[in-house]
Amino acid sequence: MVLQNNISLKPYNTFGLAVKAKQFAEVHSFAEFKQALIESENEPHLFIGGGSNLLLTKDYDGTVILNKITGIQIEKETDEHVYIKAYSGENWHEFVMHCVDHHWGGIENLSLIPGTIGAAPMQNIGAYGMEIEQVFETLEAINLETLAIENFSKADCEFGYRESVFKRKKKGQYFIYSVTFRLTKKHKINIDYGDIKAILEQQNIAPELASIKDVSNAVIAIRQSKLPDPKVLGNSGSFFKNPTISIEQFEALKIKFPSIKGYPNSEGVKVPAGWLIEQCGWKGKRVGNTGSHAQQALVLVNYGEANGNEVYQLAMDIIESVQQTYGINLEPEVNII
Ligand code: EPU
Repeated sequence: MVLQNNISLKPYNTFGLAVKAKQFAEVHSFAEFKQALIESENEPHLFIGGGSNLLLTKDYDGTVILNKITGIQIEKETDEHVYIKAYSGENWHEFVMHCVDHHWGGIENLSLIPGTIGAAPMQNIGAYGMEIEQVFETLEAINLETLAIENFSKADCEFGYRESVFKRKKKGQYFIYSVTFRLTKKHKINIDYGDIKAILEQQNIAPELASIKDVSNAVIAIRQSKLPDPKVLGNSGSFFKNPTISIEQFEALKIKFPSIKGYPNSEGVKVPAGWLIEQCGWKGKRVGNTGSHAQQALVLVNYGEANGNEVYQLAMDIIESVQQTYGINLEPEVNII
């Protein structure tokens, strides 16, 4: 572990933003992580995994710690389940592929999500009818005050939609070190969301006979058709969360905008932010070096030379126009630094 000065973060954020960190260290173990923290103890810290949920608007005046702590191990097995522990610097999609190839089920719908294991519980990643909390068993996190490892149960994590205790009450207090998942050996696939079933049918795979590999392949195909590859076009996936509004507000909007979409949940009605942004005319629109993606309005992209402030300004303009047209407040999903 070496602390380096004045390092470009361009390779470490999927938006491809060229900001610099005052100090930077890549860590491969708990010991290296502790050493990096101790050597930079008076500095603010930013932990980066895959850098896929991050909008860097300025140079970072502190120490960036790049998490490269890897390893995957089986903790326990029963006839029904395998409990598998992965260290937080592991790449999420490679972990999903590892599990699918070993016939361990439960995360196949989360194929091709960018980022690392450590980010998964942080924001309870979800896609195609599945969220990480459904397979979450436990996690180890390093307390940044004491540098001791603490265990968190599912209840301790207080998962919500793209939320956890680590983004709220305990924000900035922990570094996620490892996550243990409870995966199935006898699978119950979930193909109700979006186009998964249609893709399986196109491939002449009867839905009742689909394997977890088939589901994973279908999800990969859908994601590749809609979401830009960050290696080609910088982006951070969905830039905003899908807002939940009250039933009353939804009913009132429905009268004025009959084609509005809404999905009832325990708190009201979830409205797709992509739809709102598209209706406000932003989909596929380019503003300078940034814009809203042509296939998925919820994704903001960097056409190559954008700086973080341009993307931020676009996000604020989108928030304002959705607020003016629909009276709905969009909240960013990405971490804005
Ligand atoms: N829609 C539009 N216009 C658009 C995009 C979407 O009208 O430009 C409408 C669609 O027609 C559809 C609805 O919005 O009726 C939902 O669209 P989609 O299935 O593409 O999903 P999403 O709600 O936009 C969420 C997640 C994605 C995840 C997909 C699939 C959030 C913030 N985003 O997007 O997660 O992959 O569902 O499950 O919840 C991410 O978090 O980075 C991410 C990509």
